[in-house]
Amino acid sequence: MISLLKHKLTQFILVLVLAFLIFQFAVPQISLLLTGIAAPVPAHLVWMIYMPAVTLVMILFVSSSEMAWAEFRAPLRTLIVERERRSVIGLRTALLIVLPLLAGLAAFFQIQPSVSPPAELRSVHPAPPSSITLEGESIELQTAHNPFRNESGAPDLAALAEGEAIYGQRCVYCHGDALNSDGIFADALRPRPANFTDPGTIAQLTETYVFWRIAKGAPGLPPEGKGWNSAMPAWEGTLSEADIWKVILYLYDATNQFPRVAGE
Ligand code: HEC
Repeated sequence: MISLLKHKLTQFILVLVLAFLIFQFAVPQISLLLTGIAAPVPAHLVWMIYMPAVTLVMILFVSSSEMAWAEFRAPLRTLIVERERRSVIGLRTALLIVLPLLAGLAAFFQIQPSVSPPAELRSVHPAPPSSITLEGESIELQTAHNPFRNESGAPDLAALAEGEAIYGQRCVYCHGDALNSDGIFADALRPRPANFTDPGTIAQLTETYVFWRIAKGAPGLPPEGKGWNSAMPAWEGTLSEADIWKVILYLYDATNQFPRVAGE
């Protein structure tokens, strides 16, 4: 075993394998420990620069003296020119079959077209239109406000209760009991229904934006928001304008959030 380890060819192979393992696995781990981010070494750097550099150094090492060079190439030479020993001839034949196959496989995987789906570019909050029509009336999204809030923004309690009922009747299946995108249909939908407890949804939107989204649903999204199939229904025709304002009261109240005020 020791004599095998001392052999130049074994050392050559071991160092190359070790170097590869370090570049591939140890470097990302070390960077994870030091910086908290696992930074993998790009494959082309490994194969075009680092591994060739290590190979070059190892060739210098095994050819540093006549003796070392003779030792390094003896087994390779035997493998290529041996005529007597059947085991060596068998190994050579196997290599002559396996190596071209491996090269063929590598080429195959390189040119095989990838069938991964396109990157899903979807603007979650595309710019809303400046006005929408609902029940034949035009609503200016810039200036409209929720008629069920008083001056200081507090909701009308009767309207809030009605909003809760509407939510339980219409929205809960997708957006969930706890408004956290956990409705019974949610797992089947992509994108998932909005999670209203997440500060990235209604908390950063104005009430009129939320109004637009509820009234016009996914069909009303501009092209940059369509990206992939949202199941959010358009509620115009089902819910009246007042109903939509009421359910909005409930969305904010139940999640303890406040709408963004236009201009802030
Ligand atoms: C069939 C499932 C489904 C139902 C029912 C449903 N939604 Fe949605 N909703 C979605 C999905 C999916 C999204 C996320 C994709 C999107 O924004 O269109 C969404 C998004 C939203 C958004 C946008 C949030 C944001 O951050 O832009 C609002 C507001 C909303 N829903 C309100 C409601 C209200 C109110 C009801 C009931 C009147 C309701 N939804 C019923 C599926 C549903």
